[in-house]
Amino acid sequence: MDNRLEFKRHRRLRASNAMRSLVRENHLQIDDLIYPLFIKEGSGIRQEVPSMPGVHHLTLDHMSEEINEIKELGIKAVLLFGIPEQKDERGSGAYSEAGIVQEATHLIKQQAPEMLVVADTCLCEFTSHGHCGVIHHHDVDNDPSLELLAQTAVSQAEAGADIIAPSNMMDGFVAVIREALDEAGFTHIPIMSYAVKYASSFYGPFRDAAESTPEFGDRKTYQMDPANRLEALRETESDVTEGADFLIVKPAMSYLDIVRDVRNYTNLPVVAYNVSGEYSMVKAAAMNGWIDEKQIVMETLTAMKRAGADLIITYFAKDAAHWLQQS
Ligand code: PBG
Repeated sequence: MDNRLEFKRHRRLRASNAMRSLVRENHLQIDDLIYPLFIKEGSGIRQEVPSMPGVHHLTLDHMSEEINEIKELGIKAVLLFGIPEQKDERGSGAYSEAGIVQEATHLIKQQAPEMLVVADTCLCEFTSHGHCGVIHHHDVDNDPSLELLAQTAVSQAEAGADIIAPSNMMDGFVAVIREALDEAGFTHIPIMSYAVKYASSFYGPFRDAAESTPEFGDRKTYQMDPANRLEALRETESDVTEGADFLIVKPAMSYLDIVRDVRNYTNLPVVAYNVSGEYSMVKAAAMNGWIDEKQIVMETLTAMKRAGADLIITYFAKDAAHWLQQS
């Protein structure tokens, strides 16, 4: 080879497994993972969600086995979604003391006090119309919805939730919830805000799972347009100013540029939400033998870290924790 010809030898640092791990920049850890749980009112149910193989609806009597499994895998946080038996116009199950999320929180904290309970703060699973707030003239009415969301957050904190995670995308929700939590004596409870949430078709399987498909219309007047990037920074700016402690970007896989933008914008912990449709696509392809599930999952979750996420909410948390334990 002509010595005068100049080029760089990048392959030197890829020569062996040991060399590659020496220079690896990003690592996925079990501590990064938050596992979502769907808790259903009633009893005796542990039913697989058809579009989400491996994910179950659980009633409270089946929850403790699940919590044990999660704990043994070393996962430190769960995100709770509730599926009530009764729904009404104002989603009263979301902020009732005997609501399903409140009861589940209470039981988890009794069973595993060190497990962090993150409560999803939204009305859509509890409203008869399936929207994330109250309806006025065929649209979600922002300010009256805020009051109910603040009430929901406080009742979740009262039940023992460690983190409040509002996913409703009303304007001002962080400010109103922060104030309500503080007034109720919960100054120490952080808000993990869904700061950037797109009106995404990737939520389809979740809506089957949480029985929260809107009865009319869609969520485009409150969730963001997938075509927009600068708007994500405006949303982020508001939530930071209003007092958010964590910022969620959702969905994750098709929005890694946004995860990076938010990471560069703020010093708060950034959370990527690897949503239901992303899970279902990987599962379906894996079940067909078209892809290697473990490799694909580890690659996508690592890519979220590389994009700048500190934490990842994922239905793959149990699988990933298991694979990380083995490695
Ligand atoms: C409800 C909520 C949704 C998700 C989390 N919280 C659905 C929606 O906005 O329709 C989606 C989660 C997923 O798809 O995994 N506020």
